[in-house]
Amino acid sequence: MKTLVVFLLLMNVSQHASAVESYEGNSFVLPCQFPTERFPAPSVVWSRSDLSPPTVHQRQLQGDELKDQNQRYSGRTSMKTDSLETGDLSLNLTNLQLSDSATYTCSVRNFGDELSRSDVQLQVKERFPSWAKALLVLLVLLVVSGGLLFHFRQYFMSVPWVEVDSGVESVQLICKTTVCLPKDAKVEWKDANNRKVHVYENGSDQPEKQHEDYRDRTKMKRKVLEPGDLKV
Ligand SMILES: *[C@@H]1O[C@H](CO)[C@@H](O)[C@H](O)[C@H]1NC(C)=O
Repeated sequence: MKTLVVFLLLMNVSQHASAVESYEGNSFVLPCQFPTERFPAPSVVWSRSDLSPPTVHQRQLQGDELKDQNQRYSGRTSMKTDSLETGDLSLNLTNLQLSDSATYTCSVRNFGDELSRSDVQLQVKERFPSWAKALLVLLVLLVVSGGLLFHFRQYFMSVPWVEVDSGVESVQLICKTTVCLPKDAKVEWKDANNRKVHVYENGSDQPEKQHEDYRDRTKMKRKVLEPGDLKV
């Protein structure tokens, strides 16, 4: 009876393939089933024919046999301890890498004779595709450079520079507008300490609004509504 079962199974050496996908860094279980419990000396070899050595994982009745295992899979493969008793020959592959994308073959043997062979095609995908990474890098660069530009903005803005000796009678600070100002435009000169140096509003100077340090020391050109020059 047992030989008949073996014969029928041998006649039926399965050759099917399936495709699965996962993401890098994940662990993934490559499926494989075969009623190994019906055989006296079963073993299973997971392999990749495109690698040398091709062995990814090997399980015998005594346990795992990993001396021929390809270095790439060192410490990253495992099968259920009772797999040869239950027939669940699935391979748990951990810490998936992009280079793990390949076709894996699950080969079931009895006394070295192959009983079954099935392929699983694994596709490992990038967690973040490269365009998303590029976009992220671009965004970070934009934010950082924007922040730097804002922080050091005074170095990038060209400020007119007027140099005079102390005690000189007067200096003219020039400020010109390129647009035509309305009649009720307000002109305000301030110093670095935010003190009002000169205020012009509603068509006339507003000395009461300026800081006392500048009282009677400023004069704005009369044709104020086109160029606005200030004399201190
Ligand atoms: C696969 O192995 C890893 C590491 O040993 C374990 O954390 C994970 O639970 C296993 N996956 C399955 C489905 O058994």
